[in-house]
Amino acid sequence: MNEETLDPKDWKAMAALGHRMVDDMVHYLQTVGDRPVWKHAPQEIKSHFTRELPLDPQAPEQVYEEFLEYVLPYPVGNIHPRFWGWVIGTGTVQGAFAEMLAAAMNTNTGGLDHHSANHVESQLIRWFREIFGFPAGASGVLTSGCSAANLIALAVARNAKAEGDLRRQGLQGAKRRMICYGSEEIHSSLQKAVELLGLGSDCLRTVAVNDAFQIDTGKLEEAIAGDRERGFLPFCIIGAAGTTNTGAVDDLQALADISEREGLWFHVDGAFGAWAVLAPGAKEKVRGLERADSLALDLHKWMYMPYEIGCVLVRSEQSHRSTFSLTPAYLAHGEGGQGLTGGDLPWFSDYHFQLSRGFRALKAWMSLKEHGLRKYGRLIEQNIRQASYLGSLVEQEPLLELGAPVTLNVVCFRYVGREGEQTRRAGWTERTEQEEQAVDALNREILVRLQEGGIAVPSGTTIRGRYHLHLAITNHRSRQEDFDLLIREVLRIGEELGVGS
Ligand SMILES: Cc1ncc(COP(=O)(O)O)c(C=O)c1O
Repeated sequence: MNEETLDPKDWKAMAALGHRMVDDMVHYLQTVGDRPVWKHAPQEIKSHFTRELPLDPQAPEQVYEEFLEYVLPYPVGNIHPRFWGWVIGTGTVQGAFAEMLAAAMNTNTGGLDHHSANHVESQLIRWFREIFGFPAGASGVLTSGCSAANLIALAVARNAKAEGDLRRQGLQGAKRRMICYGSEEIHSSLQKAVELLGLGSDCLRTVAVNDAFQIDTGKLEEAIAGDRERGFLPFCIIGAAGTTNTGAVDDLQALADISEREGLWFHVDGAFGAWAVLAPGAKEKVRGLERADSLALDLHKWMYMPYEIGCVLVRSEQSHRSTFSLTPAYLAHGEGGQGLTGGDLPWFSDYHFQLSRGFRALKAWMSLKEHGLRKYGRLIEQNIRQASYLGSLVEQEPLLELGAPVTLNVVCFRYVGREGEQTRRAGWTERTEQEEQAVDALNREILVRLQEGGIAVPSGTTIRGRYHLHLAITNHRSRQEDFDLLIREVLRIGEELGVGS
């Protein structure tokens, strides 16, 4: 019988290729700062990926060469010391190795018992409970990221606070419209979540923020009262521990108080900001998240772990499990005894909409052990210090203007040019709409030149209607001189563009 396998014919040659890959990647990471942050993939590279389906085999070495030529040179750039766009993490060497180890084991962590991966993940959940001050009985599960974590948390909140049996009847059985609340600065993944959960985006009240970009708690209370008067069912308040746009942290204590008083679920989106608990100088800012009913987090942002990994913690294990647990005959478990399904613990699939899941826990477990939690705290503090340093450079430079106060690791600023400098001296309101639009356009062009020139990668965003360069510093490779360089380059490009000079 001519039976086949995908295992290599020549194991020695495959091992040699693997060693080469490891050597190449370690060198690649070691020298990342010597290359441009980002390089536009040319048309010939894009065309390479429109080729025909490979029906016949190629030597693994040849496939690797193709990767080296067509894939590796055109990354997003987030492993570089001067990448600060959006909120994207940096990754680590050991984290990359852990991904290889996990893939070699190829564990499915959706369930099954008496295998190590589930114990590694359970260990992490216990550690996260401790880090974030959640009680011993709280549940949690690793996710692909914070979008998934937010979705899971809001599903639990919706089911826990619904008046009927939501799993059976869906929202068709709801007697009253269910409403949740968050600031106008909360992340779009939360709107996606309420849409996916069938609540509809109209049910998400986006409350105005104060000057510090935190939810206005007075307006929040008014909105809740208004909805009660209309006969709706307020069910959840979403607090932001670090907004994407400005890094603002809502007054989580106040939100916890209001949630308690009103009998609402309190969810915190702590995608990156929740990790401020590790930084002695910043942990007070996120005080109150330990009172949340659910907390969504990422580890691929401010914990610098390779993509993808997030986590959701839920105070009430019972609410969490009763939202997701479903056990058909072919997945019978939880009956104790022997064998791969013989444990009496719930499976991770009882806490997640996913059944099959990879062994994400390994990279987190290995990374935490390799560096120790204290070092993560120092790195987070380092990023906060760098943000505040960058903020002070902007404030000292008359041609630049900050878009929002720097509270955590996010800095938004723009080049205003000489004209802008004069109007700033005269007062913000004196800049005409036309001048504002010119400043917006100028900053869009500065951003493109920074990126296309491979100099640095901030992203762009709009703060109070005006375009700004946006940096979220979740990068363990950045150094103070990288921020000096950024400012020098923004000023140089701004000057070169000649607007307002
Ligand atoms: C505050 C916040 N929440 C949620 C998310 C979504 O997380 P993810 O990209 O891991 O799905 C992000 C992503 O930037 C974020 O900044």
